Amino acid sequence: MQISQQIKDKFKNSKNILALTGAGISAESGVPTFRGKEGLWKQYRAEELATPQAFFRDPKLVWEWYLWRMELITTKSPNPAHFALAELENKRSNFNLITQNVDGLHKKSGSKKIIEIHGNIFRNRCTDCDKTYDSDLLILKNSTECPNCKSIVRPDVLWFGESYDTDLLNQAISLAEKSELVFIIGSSGAVGIPVELARIAKENGAFVIEINTDQSGYSRYADLFLQGKAGEILPELIPYFV
Ligand code: OAD
Repeated sequence: MQISQQIKDKFKNSKNILALTGAGISAESGVPTFRGKEGLWKQYRAEELATPQAFFRDPKLVWEWYLWRMELITTKSPNPAHFALAELENKRSNFNLITQNVDGLHKKSGSKKIIEIHGNIFRNRCTDCDKTYDSDLLILKNSTECPNCKSIVRPDVLWFGESYDTDLLNQAISLAEKSELVFIIGSSGAVGIPVELARIAKENGAFVIEINTDQSGYSRYADLFLQGKAGEILPELIPYFV
């Protein structure tokens, strides 16, 4: 891949760097994306199951889907794209990572500063007392009752129609505002708030680089669109960061 001198200079001179990732970064690890053709479970689309209404209508069904996803993710490992971002965090003290993914693969690859704006599938939260628990697949398979208040426990992830955690969202907005270089990686832009972060970054003067196999809802904000797989493109870029 040819990297122009202008881009190399951006890499060298940008102090605050942000990466916003979506399901596409985990695709090469074998985790199905949301809107790709492997994203279906049984006959359901994610949008039909990842809602409070679906959960309270049929918690068993929604838990069954989450347990299937958790088991699937447990067998997967980070890919070169995740490792490249972990390396970037080591190289640059003002690098930050916001992910929409709930799979925990960024953490597994060694990244430490991660804002998981859509939660984490391996954490659960009581629907009543809000106490959170690290999930233990075996315990969950036997019971979804909150040990504290006996209500039902749910995955601690953001569902369609729910509001973002205010603190996390404010942190994400402030990073978007101050970052000079922003990578948008493997996200379709079907969800409004993450696209809004890209817009805010762009409006505040950031140079935006998108890495995706296809154009997306973010592409209109991209100064540079790198078409291809994140696991192939990102590792090529990191050596330019000194
Ligand atoms: P999507 O499934 O909507 O989009 C995945 C994106 O990754 C697409 O734009 C693909 O073109 C791209 N892609 C696939 N393979 C890739 C690869 N190897 N390298 C680079 N790009 C690749 O997933 P998200 O945009 O993450 O929210 O979805 C956003 C949110 O919608 C999710 O976090 C989830 C879902 O509803 C919640 O659960 C709240």
